[in-house]
Amino acid sequence: MKKETSILMAAIVALGMISTTASAEIRKGQSTYLKKCKRCHGNGTKGSAMKTQSEWTELFANDGKKMIEIHMSDEVDDRGQKYFKGKRFKKKAPHLKDFLWQYGSDSGNVPSCG
Ligand code: HEC
Repeated sequence: MKKETSILMAAIVALGMISTTASAEIRKGQSTYLKKCKRCHGNGTKGSAMKTQSEWTELFANDGKKMIEIHMSDEVDDRGQKYFKGKRFKKKAPHLKDFLWQYGSDSGNVPSCG
């Protein structure tokens, strides 16, 4: 194999791995959404369309600081508040953001299921 060809092949493989990882993150985020957010905000299509992509980026900046603040409201039940205060939200926040961002209201994308 020529050197150029093998570099090209390596690049294609690397790109493939990046996009597979990205969609895995989105799927993880979607499953977290369905487990943790759906009971208050409806299905994933509805949830992700609450905000535009740049708004999601802002809400999830600094470990989701704004998301946590919003959910310390009295309207959020104890179970919900506990979730946002705890480590579990911080841990899942990057995946959740990937999912919500991917399907933000101005993204033109709609999640395939729930
Ligand atoms: C226990 C119910 C509950 C859960 C669980 C919950 N939320 Fe909320 N969420 C609320 C309430 C209530 C508000 C409005 C708070 C207020 O403004 O007083 C809100 C507000 C929001 C807003 C801002 C909406 C706006 O109009 O600006 C976003 C975005 C949001 N939630 C996303 C999420 C995501 C993502 C999750 C899952 C990680 C989640 N919520 C989990 C109850 C919940």
